[in-house]
Amino acid sequence: MDIQPITPTDYRTIVFFTGAGMSAESGVPTYRGRGGIWAKYNWQEVACEEAFRRNPGKVLEFHALRRQQLTDCQPHQGHSIIGALENSHPDVTIITQNIDGLHQRAGSQRIIELHGSLWRLRCSREGKVYHLSLGEKSPVRCQCGAWLRPDIIWFGDCLIPDVVQRATEIVGRCDLLIAVGTSAVVWPAAGFPQLARDQGAQCIEINPEATEMSFLYHVSHQGSAGEVLPALFPDAITA
Ligand code: OAD
Repeated sequence: MDIQPITPTDYRTIVFFTGAGMSAESGVPTYRGRGGIWAKYNWQEVACEEAFRRNPGKVLEFHALRRQQLTDCQPHQGHSIIGALENSHPDVTIITQNIDGLHQRAGSQRIIELHGSLWRLRCSREGKVYHLSLGEKSPVRCQCGAWLRPDIIWFGDCLIPDVVQRATEIVGRCDLLIAVGTSAVVWPAAGFPQLARDQGAQCIEINPEATEMSFLYHVSHQGSAGEVLPALFPDAITA
């Protein structure tokens, strides 16, 4: 693959903007396209507040299954490279749409989770948050007796304003944005590459397929995260 490596120190503020394709090589299915989660499941039955009110057991089972599948998945080299860059560069942030926790498992800490996390549950009555660890059986009820829902953004939910504000602030001042594995169809996340570009940042896309947003990147690398990230950052490859 003919890819010009990036020198991270040429940039003041780097943002990795990641989507489901970032985790594909770890064995986590993407949402759209062949084999995608929304081809197999109807989100109206498992991923919206109305479905939860109608049939909480079914919705919780879907998310418990996703957590269970994740216990067999490991972060791949692309996740490790991003984690290594975060340690060696003063201003690297990951803004992710993913709820799988794989960036954290690869050692990353500066992560903004736009769509929440499968590894947190939230009391549907009081909002109290419970943290889950890998392999832990998830409770279905809060101590107060109410259902615990995944602390994630479902279809129809609003994103957390503070989370969007933090992400927008960093995207607005970054000088390098690398979008990895997102179809860029879900807003407001899909607007971040345009914002970065408008503010003068270098914008790079990594995706095996062209997306609706490919036109706005300075460079689109048509390849997988696990192939392209090591080629872009050869010095960040960890053992
Ligand atoms: P999508 O499933 O919409 O898109 C995944 C993208 O990853 C596609 O463009 C693929 O071509 C690309 N891809 C596949 N394999 C890849 C690989 N190995 N390396 C790099 N890219 C690869 O996922 P998202 O864009 O993340 O929302 O979807 C956005 C949101 O829609 C998700 O956060 C989720 C979903 O409904 C919520 O859960 C709220």
